[in-house]
Amino acid sequence: MNFSHVYEIYCNRINKKLFEIIQDLPFQNSVLLKAMKYSTLLGGKRLRSCLIYATGEIFQINITTLDVISAAVELVHSYSLIHDDLPCIDNDYYRRGKISCHIKYGENIALLAGDALQGLAFNILSNNNMPGVHDAIRLKMISEFSNSIGYSGMCIGQMLDLEKTRKEINISELKKINLYKTAFLIRCSIRLAYFSSNNFSKEVLLILDKFSVSIGLAFQIQDDICDFKHDIKKFKDKKNKIKNTYPLLIGLKKSKIKIKELYEEALFALKILKKNFDVNILELLTRFIIKDFK
Ligand code: IPE
Ligand code: IPE
Ligand code: MG
Ligand code: MG
Ligand code: MG
Repeated sequence: MNFSHVYEIYCNRINKKLFEIIQDLPFQNSVLLKAMKYSTLLGGKRLRSCLIYATGEIFQINITTLDVISAAVELVHSYSLIHDDLPCIDNDYYRRGKISCHIKYGENIALLAGDALQGLAFNILSNNNMPGVHDAIRLKMISEFSNSIGYSGMCIGQMLDLEKTRKEINISELKKINLYKTAFLIRCSIRLAYFSSNNFSKEVLLILDKFSVSIGLAFQIQDDICDFKHDIKKFKDKKNKIKNTYPLLIGLKKSKIKIKELYEEALFALKILKKNFDVNILELLTRFIIKDFK
């Protein structure tokens, strides 16, 4: 089976869901909402949603529940990218093939759009109907989500990432940054789907975590390779502006080998799950990421 077709279905699903959520908000003509729409609805590969839907196939999770989880995660992801592009963080002019939110709407609106998206994500996860998910599980999901994206997760990762422009770091420090700033939201995406299955086993969670962390780390190195090639062109004369990344620390060739190793680890985790579950779609998605998102 070809995953492209499933990918299209998942993307259409989450795009429609995000559109409906934003359509339901008050102050439809506000510039804040325009900025939120701009950063959430126009583009994005929807990798995290795909992982959520594909995990849902393994544990036969209700699709409406998966829509809610995917929406919450994509809203937070969009918020993180708006703030990541701000002049005080990465100072990036472009995002998803267009000018960044703060370039289009100004820094003040971009900041608020990020804040509002984060709040909206928690509102959706707290209130939207998730068939089969009782309140104790919902609470566990909210707790996991807040942990993964806040101080103990993405935010501290972003802070460590800021520091790395100023000092020399080694590979293990870089791995830690990538774990916190990127892999934890990816791990959380799969965890939330698994929690919602009402079918909890610590062993299965450990394998899923191994899978998601490997994918998350590989994905960030892949992203760094793209940025690296671009930065080399952009900052030819200002080498100090280039951040410490895998390609910078160990070179392109070794970075690619590292990505391959991580993907193999992810596939190995799936192989273990395969003994008891049908992981076909998640495996196809993994191979699709390796092949098409490079
Ligand atoms: C970009 O994430 C930021 C990273 C964590 C590497 P994505 O590459 O998933 O961004 P979109 O959603 O497809 O634009
Ligand atoms: C983004 O990492 C991580 C988060 C937004 C949490 P990057 O800064 O490398 O992502 P890009 O390159 O801007 O997409
Ligand atoms: Mg960044
Ligand atoms: Mg950035
Ligand atoms: Mg990057």
